[in-house]
Amino acid sequence: MGGRDEQDKLIVRSVEGKGKEFESILEERLSRRDFLKAAAVTSGMVVAATAMNVDVAAAQTRPAPLPPKFGAVSPTAPEVDEIAVPDGYYAATLIRWGEPIFADAPEFDVWTQTKEKQEKQFGYNCDFVGYFPLPSYTSNNSTRGLLVVNHEYTNPELMFPGYNVDNPNPTKTQVDVELAAHGVSVVEIARGRDGRWNVVRNSRFNRRLTGYTPMTVSGPAADHEWMKTGADPSGRNVLGTLNNCAGGKTPWGTVLTAEENFHQYFANLRGLPNSDYRKAIHSRYGMPSGASERRWENFHDRFDIVKEPNEGFRFGWIVEFDPYDPNFVPVKRTALGRFRHEAATIVIAPGGQVVAYSGDDARGEYVYKFVSNGRYNPRNRAANFNLLDDGTLYVARFNADGTGEWLPLKHGFGPLNEGNGFMSQGDVLIKTRNAADALGATKMDRPEDIETNPVNKKVYIILTNNSQRGVGSGPPVDAANPRANNRAGHIIELTEEGNNHAATRFTWNIFILAGLPTDESTFFAGYDKSKVSPIGAPDNIVFDLAGNAWVATDGAASAIKLNDGLFAIPVAGSERGRVQQFFSTVAGSEVCGPEFTPDNRTLFLAIQHPGEGGTFEKPVSTWPDRQGLPRPSVITIQAFDSRRIGQ
Ligand code: FEO
Ligand code: CA
Ligand code: CA
Repeated sequence: MGGRDEQDKLIVRSVEGKGKEFESILEERLSRRDFLKAAAVTSGMVVAATAMNVDVAAAQTRPAPLPPKFGAVSPTAPEVDEIAVPDGYYAATLIRWGEPIFADAPEFDVWTQTKEKQEKQFGYNCDFVGYFPLPSYTSNNSTRGLLVVNHEYTNPELMFPGYNVDNPNPTKTQVDVELAAHGVSVVEIARGRDGRWNVVRNSRFNRRLTGYTPMTVSGPAADHEWMKTGADPSGRNVLGTLNNCAGGKTPWGTVLTAEENFHQYFANLRGLPNSDYRKAIHSRYGMPSGASERRWENFHDRFDIVKEPNEGFRFGWIVEFDPYDPNFVPVKRTALGRFRHEAATIVIAPGGQVVAYSGDDARGEYVYKFVSNGRYNPRNRAANFNLLDDGTLYVARFNADGTGEWLPLKHGFGPLNEGNGFMSQGDVLIKTRNAADALGATKMDRPEDIETNPVNKKVYIILTNNSQRGVGSGPPVDAANPRANNRAGHIIELTEEGNNHAATRFTWNIFILAGLPTDESTFFAGYDKSKVSPIGAPDNIVFDLAGNAWVATDGAASAIKLNDGLFAIPVAGSERGRVQQFFSTVAGSEVCGPEFTPDNRTLFLAIQHPGEGGTFEKPVSTWPDRQGLPRPSVITIQAFDSRRIGQ
């Protein structure tokens, strides 16, 4: 590529020649390097001439990256019920819903399932997958470890014979199975001499967290009045964690599990008097006006808002626990805020502060980060265990000029005062959404996973979709959310000031506008659209050792009429933006995880809700066992020659 003058001429020529139809959409938010590539290779793509000058020099001096090399799999139609991996790789089912994970656990029998059995078996709808090496989190062992897996939700219409999905009337046994099928599993796994992974059923580490497991509450909201219930006057002892979507791993070897769509379990908001201020807060969080979808309130009073108005405040948090200690009581860390947490991913700032990024996955909600006051101590594990209780929660504002600010959700800051109903820091955290509204944060297109790339230090924000963007009463199109009726989602690349993740200012640019490459509104960091795989509704992201992004999708079937999958995307070098499909999933499912072993030779994927859209009697998927019943499962993918995945 030529010098700066030539670059500028190219931009001007392109803009003059092609008009400005995309100018208002993409504005200046593609990096200069991406823009030049886009202008050079993409016929329909025209953007403004003054593209932001992001990391051109850095990109030119960076060591050559190792882009993934594999033969991309072909996308499959939504009714296809077979997985696909590239030539040279094989997939194996590691663990399925209902598999026993304790020596004394009963074998799975879908016809006689009970709470007691489910509590000793792998849960439903696996999402987050975290690999923790054994014997310790510092060991880097890639042949034996603990797999921590979230169980986000249940599909009773696929779990129970005869379940009436149109007019739910579950039995107490069914409801109690569902509560026990939520939560988290910890299972020890080991790789045998044949290379295959197996669950170690009698491991002392194996554990289930469910909707019943006792947990504690810490941080500024812990002793708040609204955290107290009839069953728990202390406000510090909660039963269970629910709707655990994605999560994170801390450098001190603990797990963060994120409570996402917790609102859906609570019922009858309309029964709370309008004079009760809690009603407006529950409403802001989307609690159902009448019956809940699963009707748990029929048997458990705590899910009925009229009977227990405060129980809902005890969900929507990030929960931390130690997978190496099966007796560890999980802690709800209120300092990280209360919203529909997709995940919480950690990076240590240059100054030693612990930074946790987290998105609120709903249309028009916000991107957050927490910065600890204390500093990470790599020499004293125990000293880090309460770092997430003390610090500042920020919410992001994305400016149209490619800059942005992290606004502190701090009691007393700006409008966050008594006059506006924020009486304490606990108030600010319980009403995180309301506080972020007051600060004028940027409404995003469903923030999902947010991860820091350990190679280039940039932060990648997945925005899965927003069909209401620029439509009706939905938020208008803006620079950071540039497409109306954004069905296929996008990815933003954020650079913290000075690459300091504790900074309060940042710059940002659009990395990917997902969709079918034939859709002219798509953008693949400037890469040639004729050479990329279609991708829709990105959700989870992880980076390999070379810094390439691996993105899993949730919702491609509705966005682009293809099954979900896993996609490798280089973020640097000449292949930056080259989306290549590595995996295609089965009918009705989304792809979660993804997670690598430390050596990158095994990839774990969670196949969540296979067969969603069908029923127990009329399944649309029978994966993985072909015995009539789909079962959410974690799979392993390895190369036949044991090479690193994609290398
Ligand atoms: Fe549970 Fe936001 O996906
Ligand atoms: Ca997700
Ligand atoms: Ca999802």
